[in-house]
Amino acid sequence: MKINNICCIGAGYVGGPTMSIIAQKNPHIIVNVVDMNHDKIKAWNSTNLNNLPVYEPGLSSIVEKARNRNLFFSTDVNKHIKQADMIFISVNTPTKISGEGKGYAADLKYVEACALQIAKVSKTDKIIVEKSTVPVRTSEKIKEILTANNSNVNFQILSNPEFLAEGTAMRDLEIPDRVLIGGEKSKEGQKAVQSLVDIYSAWVPRTNILTTNLWSSELSKLTANAFLAQRISSINSLSELCEETGADIEEVSKAIGMDSRIGSSFLKTSVGFGGSCFQKDILNLVYIARSMRLEKVADYWEQILIINNHQRNRFSNKIIDCINKNKLLHKVLIFGWAFKKDTNDTRESAAIYVADNLLKNQILIDVYDPKVDKKQVKLDLSQLNNDYSSKMVNFSDTPTKNLSSCNVIAILTEWDEFKNYDWKKIYKNIRKPAYVFDGRNLLDMHKLKSIGFNYIGLGR
Ligand code: NAD
Ligand code: UGA
Repeated sequence: MKINNICCIGAGYVGGPTMSIIAQKNPHIIVNVVDMNHDKIKAWNSTNLNNLPVYEPGLSSIVEKARNRNLFFSTDVNKHIKQADMIFISVNTPTKISGEGKGYAADLKYVEACALQIAKVSKTDKIIVEKSTVPVRTSEKIKEILTANNSNVNFQILSNPEFLAEGTAMRDLEIPDRVLIGGEKSKEGQKAVQSLVDIYSAWVPRTNILTTNLWSSELSKLTANAFLAQRISSINSLSELCEETGADIEEVSKAIGMDSRIGSSFLKTSVGFGGSCFQKDILNLVYIARSMRLEKVADYWEQILIINNHQRNRFSNKIIDCINKNKLLHKVLIFGWAFKKDTNDTRESAAIYVADNLLKNQILIDVYDPKVDKKQVKLDLSQLNNDYSSKMVNFSDTPTKNLSSCNVIAILTEWDEFKNYDWKKIYKNIRKPAYVFDGRNLLDMHKLKSIGFNYIGLGR
């Protein structure tokens, strides 16, 4: 089937960037990205490209070229479902907060609502592509909803999970390690797979497009994230061991990573991984394993999250102990709030948990992040802890404004700009004794120490 018109439901961190690339590389295909969130669509249509709802290096120039050529953003979901040959479902799949599987299972209510809406509106045959990360066998559920609510239209379901990482999304989309497409083995199923292969083939070498059955594709996405997170928890657990033994985690990490069988990626110790997906996808994997009574398997994967929580707590507890022991001012200057550099996304950022622990211990915080605003910081904190007083949280639009009122700086996101600061000048202006708690091992430990800072990194 030749695809002329695509609709993507969900204009978030995945839908927006992914569809921008598809539209850029396939100028003959009309791509409509739709969302029920009016503010978000308005921002995607903003003439000021700094106002796009997603910050990703390289995104705005692609949007600028393709928007209103063959890339459109709209809230008219029904109209664009009706017109489309292929519909991507790219909506959020958060952890359930109530009902069966609460706290673990993925909440599929948004995916299911999309399936129902597609069924109700469609008049012509369509290929439905699961872009959201979902539990294995979700495509079966989607098919059930579609066929139960519309028997006149033929729907083919594909799984095409997204592997982009935030901050490098455009590069990941431009040169993906692989594109994964799962489909039914039937003739129609394989035709649908081929339609999607053709779209990606506009820029991805065919050898990097992997086609599998539906369940393998769905499960591979969850497990790829679990493997990546597992490496971070492994190295973070060793950072604590390094602190007890005198080994240096940076040296250990390098030594391990030089083994070509292990590789060096995802071995950077940190205050804990964040982001919207690692935690929720592992919780979901644990839930799936438990629901099949695979207790040992579930426990194995859950340990990744236990270590991650432990790393956040032990880092913030170190700051609290240091302040109390040395009778320092009860205030910490936090550098970085996003869950990683080069994104404005703060979901599950370690910074939120570190700040929460400080606030609970009556330590004030002053936050600076180059891409995150005051409103977002407040929202993140209030969602976690309703009791915090806004008097305890301050924000700086320049990083070095409030130095004289505290002794401690905590680096929580690995923004490059932090490395380029004039640390001598910062030392001059900060209260003494001065401490840097580097939750990313970002700064040059020896340089900071030679300036006069007490430098506390991880695993060294
Ligand atoms: P997001 O929250 O940024 O965007 C989802 C959007 O879907 C929201 O704007 C929401 O308003 C919209 N939406 C929900 N239900 C809708 C409906 N019925 N009709 C119209 N719009 C609707 O989420 P995201 O980060 O883009 O993630 C989407 C999916 O992709 C998730 O399953 C996630 O696990 C997966 N994923 C995310 C990333 C990432 O880096 N963020 C990477 C790979 C995969
Ligand atoms: C991750 C995966 O890398 C993507 O492949 C996947 O598509 C995506 O999740 C998803 O499904 O949402 P993302 O969360 O955007 O991408 O960013 P990562 O680069 O994976 O970083 C996640 C967290 O781990 C960040 O907080 C980062 O700082 C931390 N991290 C990463 C470390 O602490 N150490 C490392 O060595 C690498």
